[in-house]
Amino acid sequence: MKFYIETYGCQMNVADSEVVASILIEHGFIHTKNIDEADIILVNTCSIRENAETRVRGRLKVFQQIKKQKPTIKIGVLGCMGERLKEELLKQEVMVDMVVGPDSYRLLPNTIHKLDVEKVVETTLSDEETYEEILPYRTESNGISAFVSITRGCQNFCSYCIVPYVRGAERSRSPESIIQEINGLKEQAFKEVTLIGQNVDSYRYNNFSFADLLELVARQFPALRIRFSTNHPKDMTDQLLRVVASYDNICKHIHLPVQSGSNKILKLMNRGYTREQYLQRIASIYKHIPDVAISTDIMVGFCDETLADHSQTLSLMKEVGYDFAFMFKYSERSGTYAAKHLNDNVPEKEKIRRLNEVIALQNELSYESKKHDVGKVFDVLVEGYSKKSKKQMMGRNSQNKVIVFDAHHNTCIGDVVKVKVESFTSATLIGKIYE
Ligand code: 5AD
Ligand code: SF4
Repeated sequence: MKFYIETYGCQMNVADSEVVASILIEHGFIHTKNIDEADIILVNTCSIRENAETRVRGRLKVFQQIKKQKPTIKIGVLGCMGERLKEELLKQEVMVDMVVGPDSYRLLPNTIHKLDVEKVVETTLSDEETYEEILPYRTESNGISAFVSITRGCQNFCSYCIVPYVRGAERSRSPESIIQEINGLKEQAFKEVTLIGQNVDSYRYNNFSFADLLELVARQFPALRIRFSTNHPKDMTDQLLRVVASYDNICKHIHLPVQSGSNKILKLMNRGYTREQYLQRIASIYKHIPDVAISTDIMVGFCDETLADHSQTLSLMKEVGYDFAFMFKYSERSGTYAAKHLNDNVPEKEKIRRLNEVIALQNELSYESKKHDVGKVFDVLVEGYSKKSKKQMMGRNSQNKVIVFDAHHNTCIGDVVKVKVESFTSATLIGKIYE
């Protein structure tokens, strides 16, 4: 039986799809990238905002058409949206044969075999499952860079967020299993790993902290580039920043979601820090890692957000000078604290206006950030060819900025080359190989 898998949402979902592929292949299923060949279509889904679910429902309509042509095909919904809706999803989307939540992937081979007889829903969450001994099958990868999950779940309970409900309690993987997985990647000639978790700073295995883990990985794999995401302002330690500063192979990029610049809103969001504490974390990052790039997540239009609160967000963005940001408007998720107890009272039109304002400001900040890079020489890990031309290649610097440059005939994907930045566009730096 051949399976095809499509992934939506965050890096964690990318990593999970690779665990799913590994489990299925282990049980004799064959992976295909061609949907027309598939006997099973799997879609790994995201619930973080309403529009993430809308996108999945759009895809399900397309799969329904495929099923009309080929009625034996099975369709499975995996991940967060499956966990959130459970049986309800089978009622809403009649072509779906199976719903499997993020902690039930080991059951998949069995579940699929049951589908000829009945539809199946498996959505029990676990306090222990980390899939730690399963070596992910890198379906989504370019062969250069891979995600390695170090924790699962989340228990911060930000008042807007569905993740603790659909991904369950937080658990950490053993350092040994993480090292073993990275060893495998090194042997397959991968050049970069990103350690991922909903909140990497809350990684803890017995007395081993995230800073300890990062240092261990940096020492064991001096030839690999090491990234990590996502940090949490309430938990990120100076010890971690010292580790990042001490090892050349740890990339100088910190993703530190702020969400809002207003103390009133941060409190309503249950974020666990104030604007002042956040800015203190930023000051500490710049102090320890002067050549760092900082990115963030920002959400506009949360419950009771006034214009004064919104302008606090704008002023904080300027104060930090983010290199990059993911920006969203608040989307109420049923079951969360905010949905139950707060009022989603910023009108949609106003949310859009505030979002556009935040995006316009971030464009200016990103422009400034890139302007400062002109004339600098960076080590760039080559990831592939530029979208526009085969004569140009692209990669990233330590700060996670994309750089496009004219390829030399002997430049290969996976090489690290020195590139001098000469100009930039809205999204990329443009440079030349620097001898
Ligand atoms: N509405 C809008 N954005 C959200 N995020 C999380 N939950 C919601 C929601 N209900 C954003 C946050 C988070 C990122 C992953 O998604 O900014 O950091
Ligand atoms: Fe990832 Fe969160 Fe979306 Fe789940 S809801 S896929 S954890 S972003």
